[in-house]
Amino acid sequence: MTRVFVPRDVVALALGADKIAAAIVATAKARGADVSIVRNGSRGMFFLEPLIEVETPAGRIAYGPVTLKDVAALFDAGFLDGGTHALRIGKPEDHPFLKRQTRLTFARSGITDPVSLEDYAAHEGWLGLKRAIEIGSAAIVDEITKSGLRGRGGAGFPTGVKWKTVADTKADRKYVVCNCDEGDSGTFADRMVLEDDPYMLIEGMTICGLAVGATKGYVYCRSEYPHGIKAFNEALQRARAAGYLGKDVLGSGHAFDIELRVGAGAYVCGEETALLESLEGRRGMVRAKPPLPAINGLFQKPTVINNVLSLATAPFILAHGAKAYADFGMGRSRGTMPLQLAGNIRYGGLFETAFGLTLGEIVEDIGGGTASGRPVRAVQCGGPLGAYFPPALFDTPFDYEAFAAKDGLIGHGGIVVFDDTVDMLTMARFAMEFCAIESCGKCTPCRIGSTRGQEVIDKILAGIHVEANLRLLEDLCQTMKFGSLCALGGFAPYPVLSAMRHYPEDFKPHAAIAAE
Ligand SMILES: Cc1cc2nc3c(=O)[nH]c(=O)nc-3n(C[C@H](O)[C@H](O)[C@H](O)COP(=O)(O)O)c2cc1C
Ligand code: SF4
Repeated sequence: MTRVFVPRDVVALALGADKIAAAIVATAKARGADVSIVRNGSRGMFFLEPLIEVETPAGRIAYGPVTLKDVAALFDAGFLDGGTHALRIGKPEDHPFLKRQTRLTFARSGITDPVSLEDYAAHEGWLGLKRAIEIGSAAIVDEITKSGLRGRGGAGFPTGVKWKTVADTKADRKYVVCNCDEGDSGTFADRMVLEDDPYMLIEGMTICGLAVGATKGYVYCRSEYPHGIKAFNEALQRARAAGYLGKDVLGSGHAFDIELRVGAGAYVCGEETALLESLEGRRGMVRAKPPLPAINGLFQKPTVINNVLSLATAPFILAHGAKAYADFGMGRSRGTMPLQLAGNIRYGGLFETAFGLTLGEIVEDIGGGTASGRPVRAVQCGGPLGAYFPPALFDTPFDYEAFAAKDGLIGHGGIVVFDDTVDMLTMARFAMEFCAIESCGKCTPCRIGSTRGQEVIDKILAGIHVEANLRLLEDLCQTMKFGSLCALGGFAPYPVLSAMRHYPEDFKPHAAIAAE
């Protein structure tokens, strides 16, 4: 019996993976070959999906991107024995895109069957939780603190400090909330965790529950992830049945269980306090801070709210020790970041690497430049509220502080590439329009400012008092930056200001450009 791996990740599904799996089964039957199909996760090399792998005595051999019409030819080429074919990639781990990575968090992605408990356990699964049970609350928090892990949701707040605050706050109930709203443009790492390695998140949340004394966890997931929701719920059921969740986690005497809740499609519900409002059944409006959610969070109880990737990193840190994680990275940015390469890029996908590569290396060397083959003109990092970086800033290392020093943010690790056909005035207008649509409406600079911002940009576009309106736009951006209650209104000016600063030629009235 030969095991053939056909990914169940949504990227592969969108490219016909289900039909390809069925065709492999049918062709094998017709040709008398004995195959068993494993629906694995994705390796994150989206440019090769669907990436089909075959287990051979020499290891797993990959072929991609496979289409339905390639299946018969793959059999003809003897792919079940690793035979030669134009789509043969060789061993996936030897592919340059994977070989250059440091996969700590995504170590299992694409290798295992995501919902198989046996596979998870066979690939270091639950080692972190078992050690966490042994060492207890204070030592868990200590490990997370020493690892230098910072929140991967956007703000980069030290995870250990957050966990310690909740652990030290006395209450009859505490909660762990996982932020899986993942609304940033070009991001998909949280989705991959749900679909491709869901037990890792279950393990991470359970470790957090033990650390802070919480007995209940919620995952708040965007509705646009139906496959992830299904996979995670299936994993939850299996983990509960096997004793990894419930009244007595692995016989430790500690109770912990998890429930997944689905959002309703508002970007602002990714903001932690709006998320809590939504989770409690109200409209997603931002709460003023203080009180911090760590003191007064879900249902007024102390709550850890962390991004999927922050929680999913805890099992590695507990299993291997804080130092093993902190040894990677630069400055105050420790460990690895799962970069998400998207937009107009040749090699799109997930690239986990230690902090410190330059933006140029990431976009040009790893991403291969643009998919269109035209020169890169702009890169937006950190989602729709992140600054645009021109190639002149490509020497910036990927690191929280280095990006902040250039008025940028690394956010959740989304990197969206644009070629030289992009019009930056239009992109600046989009930032204001996005903010106007997604604003929760609680504070004036964001609610009114974003609409005024669109109007001012429209006037610049039309050539009306361009110099005066550019000054007005800059002034408006400063008001939004410093006067908004949360980072939606506070960061929307960053793409606008960076576009004005780095691409002034696009801020001439378009009529004037046409006349030149
Ligand atoms: C408008 C807005 C949207 C946000 N969206 C997300 C999101 O989708 N996922 C996320 O983890 N954090 C998001 N954040 C950041 C959260 O407010 C919060 O900082 C994060 O969940 C904390 O977890 P961490 O410390 O693990 O990063 C958003 C913030 C703002 C202001
Ligand atoms: S900045 Fe915008 S999203 Fe944030 S609280 Fe104010 S109105 Fe709401």
